[in-house]
Parts: sequence; structure tokens; C-alpha cells
Amino acid sequence: GDGAHVPVLVIGTGYGGSVAALRLAQAGVDVHMVEMGMAWDTPGPDGKIFVNTKSPDFRAYWLRTRTKQPISNFLGFPIDKDVPRYTGILDAEEFGGIIVYQGRGVGGGSLVNGGMAVTPKRENFGGVLPSVNPDEMYSTYYPRANAELGVNNVDPAWWETVDCYQYARVGRKHAQRSNFAFTLVPNVYDMNYMKQEAAGTATKSAVDGEILYGNNYGKKSLQKTYLAKARATGRVQISTLHRVTSVSPSGSSYRVVIEQLNTDGSIAATKAVTADRVFFSAGSVGTSKLLTKLKATGALPNLNGEVGKGWGDNGNVMVGRANHLWDPTGAVQTSIPTAGIDNWAAGGAFAEVAPIPTGIETWASFYLSITKNPNRAQFTWNASANKVDLNWQTAWKQPSIDMAKSIFDKINAKEGTIYRTDLFGVYKIWGDHLTYHPLGGAVLNKATDNYGRLAGYSGLYVMDGSLIPGNTSVNPFVTITALAERNIERIIATDL
Ligand code: FDA
Repeated sequence: GDGAHVPVLVIGTGYGGSVAALRLAQAGVDVHMVEMGMAWDTPGPDGKIFVNTKSPDFRAYWLRTRTKQPISNFLGFPIDKDVPRYTGILDAEEFGGIIVYQGRGVGGGSLVNGGMAVTPKRENFGGVLPSVNPDEMYSTYYPRANAELGVNNVDPAWWETVDCYQYARVGRKHAQRSNFAFTLVPNVYDMNYMKQEAAGTATKSAVDGEILYGNNYGKKSLQKTYLAKARATGRVQISTLHRVTSVSPSGSSYRVVIEQLNTDGSIAATKAVTADRVFFSAGSVGTSKLLTKLKATGALPNLNGEVGKGWGDNGNVMVGRANHLWDPTGAVQTSIPTAGIDNWAAGGAFAEVAPIPTGIETWASFYLSITKNPNRAQFTWNASANKVDLNWQTAWKQPSIDMAKSIFDKINAKEGTIYRTDLFGVYKIWGDHLTYHPLGGAVLNKATDNYGRLAGYSGLYVMDGSLIPGNTSVNPFVTITALAERNIERIIATDL
């Protein structure tokens, strides 16, 4: 409540925040987590907590009156539709040159993501986090993160035969015929549950397209892993629909200003609490926006000049390919991707073979590529508009497109196929307007020390994707989790 004092306040309940909360609680510290999104623990009018990707309703989007689907068109026709404005689960946050998709609610991005749980190849780690010792990451913190997240692998024999992975097998065939390395990748979705869904012995979930707006059954989101364990300590409390707007020094602790939200986004109340330590775990965009504003407006003037810098999109770019009529990808496609085409070393691209879970045959192969895009953007405070801007330009995706083409131009030439031009508008091949993987903005060993302690203030920490300078070479959440495990261990040992 208003005026309360807490030892530790964690802003955000995504990967970084959940690791911090669990480990601090296990060390005997009381933790209060503040989450702007909803709890996602109560069924909606259809008896389910989360709405299906195929039929978005009020639960789907964060404070929008119209959906903003990543694949916006089909056969050129727009597929977005009006929805009531609500504190829904997926935020399509628009900056000048890019839409950044993020999860909102207890569990952050783990509520909405594809669950692909990929540890970077060790030879690429130096390019991901140059100031971190790879030995300790690969011997201790990556294994710890994978174990706590519940990472598992699809049964290859089952994958070879089941209808719902036909799209992935088509992806493999095309990759291998063009001599690209194709790998199955781990996931946090419970693969035994998916087998039961596919066999018709459990309620359909991934196999019926649940993912982007939450998953009601097999997905091991943070609610089922780190946060369940954190709550079980009895030391962790979470306030939902509470958004932190300010942190500033107050004596030997910090004053934290918090807005309580109604589900239409209006402000129900404004509160202030004090905390001895504050962890910024609001995600790359959330943490960067807060720190940039607080430095510029004088609440935290001693933050250094690295705040807001080094932001990247993990080189995300999407594309579809049109397959021949004799080469269908299947009407039933599980929403959980399990495969990637690895051309990182030669072409700078790692392409996930992604589903289009529409329930009908689309004759499309769809890919989300992670590329080695070198461009980095900066957050700045826009005083006249009272908001934080990001200077990313749409044209900065061109290196990503070129790197993705190192795979798909070759596959198209070999298969005699072409790109789909109907999925992102009318004659638009590349999904170059968005990212699922925001990273950076408070980079490790730059805006913070080498363990996430913010420069200029003792007791303020960053613990989320904003520590990672723009690219992880694969999907990011395992690296965000492992880095948080590394940093919190040091912080508990030396700061408490
Ligand atoms: P995260 O974004 O998870 O959590 C931050 C939390 O802070 C959010 O809950 C937010 O609401 C809250 N918050 C923000 N500002 C606040 C404020 N001022 N006050 C209070 N709370 C605030 N990655 C991967 O590895 N494999 C995959 O398959 C995918 N797939 C994927 C699909 C889609 C659609 C998306 C959007 C993302 C992915 N990702 C992914 C990315 C992955 O989900 C992402 O990298 C992590 O969730 C980031 O974790 P963080 O801890 O940095 O923040």
C-alpha cells in the first residue's frame, strides 16, 4: 500500500525479474514485485484464461482498439479487427521505425513467446556478452537456467511422423536440398503434453494454435516455473496492474512512484513506496524507457551516458515462401516451433521454421530469422511530448534482409519457388517492421558494472534483456535467464 517500505522492489515479472525474486527470496529477503500487466490467473467468458491466436478478443492486446497481428494480411486482405481497449496480454509498442512486441502480465514475455529455448553456440558467445566469462556461463549458469525453465526436446521419432510438424519437415527438406544445416531446437512447451494433444487424449492447445495471446495447457511459462517456486518461499508478493513511473533517492533508500491501472488503462490511484534496493526488470524497452526518463528529468541524474544506448532487434526479420501445390505444409500446424536453419557462420542468419497455425492449408513456408544486424539504436527523452523515443529506422533492417536472403534466395532458386508477397500487406515480401526480441538499452559493463549494478547509485540494479547489447545469435530468453542467474548470485554474495 501507499507509504509502505520494502527491502527489495522488483519492477517487472519477466525472466530477469523472476530469477531475481526467486534467488533473493531463497536467501531470506522479502521481495515485492510490481507488474503493469494482469495476473492471468482467472478464466474469461469462454472458461479459458488465454484466447486463441485464431480468434483474438479483448484479452489479446495491450490497450489497443484494433488488433496488430504480426502477419497482418492473408492473400493481401487485412486480417486485423476491432477489439475493446483492455490491458491485454500482447503489447505491439510502436516507435518511429519499428513495432516491438512484448508480453504484458505476470510472466512477461514467457506468456506470449514461442518457447524456443536456445543456448547460443559457444563460439558465438564472445559476440553476445563480451565481458562475461564463457566458462562459468556454459558450466554453471546456462545449465541452471535450462533446468529451472523446464527446457525439453521433441521426440525426433514422433516429430518425423506427426501431422502437426509437416510444416517443419517441409522446412527441413528445402533447407537440406540447398545444403543448409538444419537443427531441432529445445523448447519449454511440455512435449509429452503435445503428444497427447495430437493423439486426441488431452485438450488441444499448441496443436490448436494457442500461443501468441497465451497458452492454456502445455507451455511452461514463468508462472509455472520460477514464479511458482518464488511464491512457494512465502517471501514474494506481486502487485498486478501496477506500473512504476519513477524511482529516486530518498535518504538511504529509494522512493518508487507507482500508478495503479484499471483494465481500460485509466489510472485508478497513484502510490509511493520506499525500497532499499530496486531491480529494473521491466524488459529491454521498459527498463530503457524508465532509466532514460529518470536520468533526463533529474530523478536519477547520476546515471551514466550509456543509459538508453546499445539497443538492437536481435536482427529479426520475417518472410514467407510460396510452395508448390504438390508440397503442402499441412492444415494442422502446432504453434510451437522446434526447428531452425543455421547459416550464422556463413551468412549471418539463423532462421526458425515457424508455423502459420490458421487451421487451413496455406501452401506457405514461414520463417522468423535472427540475423547479425550490426545497427544499434538509442532511446532519448522527448520533453515536449513527455515520452521516450527510439531512433531505429526501418531501413536499418536491410542488413537483416540481405542475411536472410543468403538462405531463402538459394532455397527459392533450388525449389523453383518465390517469396509470398501477401502476408504483410499488398506486395510486401519482408516483415521488416517489427521485432519479438528487443535487447539492450542498459548494457552490461557500460550502463552497469559487470554484474548489473547501475553506475551512479548503490542499490539500483538492471536484471533483464536490456543488459544484452542487441543480439544473442539465437532466441534470447535462455541467455537473459542465465545472465540473471550469474548476476544475482554475485549480488547476493557481496551486496546483501
Ligand atoms: P519481459 O519483457 O519478459 O518482462 C518485463 C515485464 O515488465 C513485463 O511483464 C512488463 O509488463 C513489465 N513492465 C514493463 N514496464 C513496467 C513498469 N514501468 N512497471 C511495472 N511493470 C513493467 N524468446 C525466446 O528465447 N524464444 C522464443 O521462442 C521467443 N518467442 C517470442 C515470441 C513473441 C511473440 C515475443 C513477443 C517474444 C518472444 N521471445 C522469444 C522473446 C522473449 O519473450 C523476451 O526476450 C523475454 O521475455 C525478455 O525477458 P525480460 O526479462 O527482459 O523482460
